[in-house]
Amino acid sequence: MKSPTIESIHYMLRPFTKSDAALWQVWDIDPEVQAHMPGPLNEPEDIAEQCAYIEACEADEEGYYWSIETTDGVTIGTVAFTEFNKHHGVADLGIVIGDKNYWGTGVATEVLTALVRYAFAHMGIVRISAEVEAENVPMTKVLEKIGFTQDGLFESARVKNGKRVNVLHFGIVKK
Ligand SMILES: CC(C)(COP(=O)(O)OP(=O)(O)OC[C@H]1O[C@@H](n2cnc3c(N)ncnc32)[C@H](O)[C@@H]1OP(=O)(O)O)[C@@H](O)C(=O)NCCC(=O)NCCS
Repeated sequence: MKSPTIESIHYMLRPFTKSDAALWQVWDIDPEVQAHMPGPLNEPEDIAEQCAYIEACEADEEGYYWSIETTDGVTIGTVAFTEFNKHHGVADLGIVIGDKNYWGTGVATEVLTALVRYAFAHMGIVRISAEVEAENVPMTKVLEKIGFTQDGLFESARVKNGKRVNVLHFGIVKK
């Protein structure tokens, strides 16, 4: 789906471009960035595969995908709505701040606050869901700070480094 450009105070959410692929090659194989993502640690992909993924995202009828850019034009992460269902007005949220220099500086809180507000006002979305590994304390804090509430716990839902981990389910509903 064509993703609209959304601005917060210090950041802009913009559609993917092919130049993002080089950054993903770094973030996709960084063990710290990937520690709490659903998949196993990614294998390095070549640029052609990353560009094909960008095209697939653009064509995805159930997804909106953005790069997170600073006002200085530095791309620092990605955010997405997947499993978008127009009829029910629901979507699943995912975010990665790939540039670790920005962790703990309030980026996720700021851009997700802007995104949720925009989604409720302009995208026909009424409910947003997010799944978070229980050990991903920063992401849990971000969701709670912007008004998500925990509405589920999936016990032993994933395996990480040979250990089963719990996954928390969060949601926020347009009031
Ligand atoms: C999770 C992630 C999106 C958070 O982004 P961020 O921009 O660093 O988040 P913010 O700075 O807005 O907020 C993080 C909060 O967690 C807190 N925090 C960070 N590390 C922490 C830790 N180890 N223990 C406790 N709190 C921690 C911060 O202090 C902050 O809370 P505060 O505002 O009350 O001080 C980012 O770390 C990331 O992209 N991680 C890798 C990918 C990932 O896990 N994505 C989510 C998958 S569900």
